[in-house]
Amino acid sequence: VYFDNATTTQKPRYVIQRVNDVYTQGIANVHRAVNFLADEVTRAFEESRQQVAQFLGMEAREIIFVRNATQTINVVWRALSRKKSLRVLTTTLEHHSNLLPWTAEGQGEFVPWSSRGQNRWPFVSHHALNETGFNDVCCCFKFSWQYSTRSRKLSKSVDLPGLIDASQSIRHERINVRQLAGDYLVFSGHKIYGPSGVGVLYIKREILDSMDPVFLGGSMV
Ligand SMILES: Cc1ncc(COP(=O)(O)O)c(C=O)c1O
Repeated sequence: VYFDNATTTQKPRYVIQRVNDVYTQGIANVHRAVNFLADEVTRAFEESRQQVAQFLGMEAREIIFVRNATQTINVVWRALSRKKSLRVLTTTLEHHSNLLPWTAEGQGEFVPWSSRGQNRWPFVSHHALNETGFNDVCCCFKFSWQYSTRSRKLSKSVDLPGLIDASQSIRHERINVRQLAGDYLVFSGHKIYGPSGVGVLYIKREILDSMDPVFLGGSMV
């Protein structure tokens, strides 16, 4: 019996079959060619975006596919830190994929949110946040209902952009993004029975519309 689903999941037969079908019946480049096969895979690709959006209660255009959760967090970090140096408020419980980007290049400043786990959360108050003297704080946290309820109150009261790392919780809890405080939400497909190489990044529409692209190129000009 395989017990290490937190690391990655074994793939159901229909996932393997679907990947096999695409590779054996005609592979083409998504959004990059004008032919029958390219139309087919592009349609299938956009359908999966719709399905992910439906699964999480978002709009399809708020979903961006990249390589994995680590890359999604790096994308957000790069987009935010390009404009100004960040003061990042996070917990000491995070995966290193959700810590290292925020502290890279000496740009980010890491404020440990919880040194003893969730019990310290009530002590992070609006007042404490204001006392930091920074107004561009980004909260990054693993998702659970307990976290999200508290963080929602917090981020609403101080108007913080918040990133939710749902990499572990996505398999266990029903997540409706609209009910959460998160402006960004990330997870990896391979932890939820999907193929390797798929990371999901949700960015709230209002933010997305005002963002500059992080990657240039691709698609067709
Ligand atoms: C909470 C959490 N965040 C991020 C990651 C990174 O995921 P990936 O290696 O798919 O980028 C993991 C992987 O174990 C994780 O558990």
